[in-house]
Amino acid sequence: MAMVSMRQLLDEAAAGGYGVGAFNVNNMEQIQAIMEAARETSSPVIIQASRGARSYTNDRFLYHLMQAAVELYPEIPVALHQDHGNSPETCFSAIDQGFTSVMMDGSLLADGKSVSDFAYNVQVTREVVERAHAVGVTVEGELGTLGGIEDGVGSGEVHLTDPDQAVEFVEQTGIDALAVAIGTSHGAYKFSRKPDGEVLAMNLIQEIHEKLPTTHLVMHGSSSVPKELIDIINQYGGEIRQTWGVPVEEIQLGIRHGVRKINVDTDSRLAITGAIRKAMSDDPGEFDPRSYLKPARAAMQQVIAQRMTQFGQAGHAGDYEPRSLTEMRDFYAGAAA
Ligand code: G3H
Ligand code: 13P
Ligand code: ZN
Repeated sequence: MAMVSMRQLLDEAAAGGYGVGAFNVNNMEQIQAIMEAARETSSPVIIQASRGARSYTNDRFLYHLMQAAVELYPEIPVALHQDHGNSPETCFSAIDQGFTSVMMDGSLLADGKSVSDFAYNVQVTREVVERAHAVGVTVEGELGTLGGIEDGVGSGEVHLTDPDQAVEFVEQTGIDALAVAIGTSHGAYKFSRKPDGEVLAMNLIQEIHEKLPTTHLVMHGSSSVPKELIDIINQYGGEIRQTWGVPVEEIQLGIRHGVRKINVDTDSRLAITGAIRKAMSDDPGEFDPRSYLKPARAAMQQVIAQRMTQFGQAGHAGDYEPRSLTEMRDFYAGAAA
């Protein structure tokens, strides 16, 4: 199977009423962990690479590792997605590198830090949609900025997504998927207590979905930051403060209200780090990298397989025939006509 369009994965998820995890990767072991978890649970999946990941892998390693993944797991529909593209140029270079989906994150300026305005966001996102759809590639946009409601982490300013503005944004850009800001942030330190409606605005998802029933919603910063994973890290010499992530039941509530793509990176990082710390501590005389990378890969596979089951994508890998990007290009051309 070739890499598939993210739009198709999300359309199928909407029809089936489930969500699809989008898992970040930086190396071979992470790709292997995700593909094994996908096989174990029979899940379609989105693999995503940040700008940092693309620079770490120098693009070409990533491209060829993904080719190996589709060759070795032909039964798994997999989309390769640019996470948080900071400019149209970043998105265009991802398309040139064979990504089947890109995120134009115009909620921030190209420095990836400063908050932009609506007109800028529409302009850069629209530019990416025109070029991406012309070759069948999916586009995710973002409206509002991530960051904790409690303390304004992330961009430093919290701008929750405004549902009416979301309608205008989707109409003016033609995006396939919309990332919404509801109070989550990237990384391990999202909430200082189990989040409730005061710090995690799940009600916004419901409101946006009612106004935009056919737009696929995306939840960023959606790691659940399980205490068990933090405990392993701390038991073996790590120092992670007490913290809360996004409870899986909140994500499942989102999925019932139009969330189709769920971004998870931190949970994988925690699983890997805990396993490596444990392996090194259990056998301090060992220095074969495989002695810690194998348990790290297995730990990541375990958490990803669990998320695939919780998000509902498990069991859906064989539901449909993947459409080529050429077919998707024709689909977009038809929709525009
Ligand atoms: O966007 C956040 C993801 O967790 C990627 O993080 O930029 O450190 O690769 P990164
Ligand atoms: P986490 O840090 O919660 O895993 O979020 C990842 C993410 O949103 C990547 O875009
Ligand atoms: Zn994100």
